[in-house]
Amino acid sequence: MSKTEFTAVVPVAGTGTRLRPHTYTYPKVLLTVGDKPIIGHILDDLSAAGIKNVCLVVGYLGEKIREYVAKNYKGLAVTYIEQSEQKGLGHAIWLTRRAVAGPVVVMLGDTILDADLDVFLKSKDDCIAVKEVADPRRFGVVETKGGYISAMVEKPEHPKTNLAIVGIYSFHNSSALYNSLGRLVDSGRTTKGEIQFTDAMAAMVKEGHKIKPVPIDGWYDCGKPETLLETNRHILDKKKFSPKAKNSLIIPPVYISPTAKVTNSIVGPYASIGDGARIDSSIISDSIVNENASIVNMNLSGSLVGPSAAVAGRKDQLNVGENSEIRFDRTDCEA
Ligand code: UTP
Repeated sequence: MSKTEFTAVVPVAGTGTRLRPHTYTYPKVLLTVGDKPIIGHILDDLSAAGIKNVCLVVGYLGEKIREYVAKNYKGLAVTYIEQSEQKGLGHAIWLTRRAVAGPVVVMLGDTILDADLDVFLKSKDDCIAVKEVADPRRFGVVETKGGYISAMVEKPEHPKTNLAIVGIYSFHNSSALYNSLGRLVDSGRTTKGEIQFTDAMAAMVKEGHKIKPVPIDGWYDCGKPETLLETNRHILDKKKFSPKAKNSLIIPPVYISPTAKVTNSIVGPYASIGDGARIDSSIISDSIVNENASIVNMNLSGSLVGPSAAVAGRKDQLNVGENSEIRFDRTDCEA
């Protein structure tokens, strides 16, 4: 089977509650990580693997996603499917059934992978990416036997293994997958209030369908502020950008968009400065500054600054006499 026959389904309809307040006005997948929005990394990986057909499930703030993709990914044939109510990942994928024929690869919209997609696209088996995690209770979890998946459960309270499902799924015969999703949707069955993709695949496994678990190491979650910053650190370490800025000290790894303006600042390590952002007289490390944000007189670390946000500090002026002691942190002060 040729790689180009695959259609990639990427569900991005979610509201991204864990990344509020950023996701009140911006869909999660358009938030910057490294040098571009999350969805940019995913579409680049798919293009690099030779995939031409992509089906995006959009919903919450979907217009903004359509605009970005149409402007930046003219080489891909992208179909948009609307999910007006966020009923769960299984429901989102089921909605794509009329847009997909033949083999399908599903990639989650909030995960960036450092994995060889060819392993999934060239395997004769249907495959799911898995990773050993310390606490599998918030994931779909698989059990294996003889090299294949023997059972899978979504967010189990008492997981039998620590092998979590992590965001890539490939199926040669998409109609078998859509049939199982259809039966699940018709049954009205939900787990934790959502129509779960894992439940549809678990039913297939129960019926004897063979799915191979493919262990991957490079799995980077973008769903929460701390994991987004962690993913940012990974991308900056990997891509080794060489940015320049006026009268400023750059401590690599750092990404500064060519259209950002950085002056009189110390930037890095691990800072990403987006398109059109302005940084002046500031110290910024381990942070993501999204497009057109403005930061002046600030000292930021472990921070996410949203698109077009403006943050400015105080420049105090002091005329301090002999033996003075001035502290701005209150931690040592007596009440
Ligand atoms: P998440 O479970 O992370 O949901 O979905 P979310 O809305 O993005 O984020 P939180 O949990 O509220 O913070 C994983 C992926 O599946 C998509 C999401 O957009 C995300 O890319 N998804 C999820 C849908 O497209 N539709 C759904 O009904 C559920």
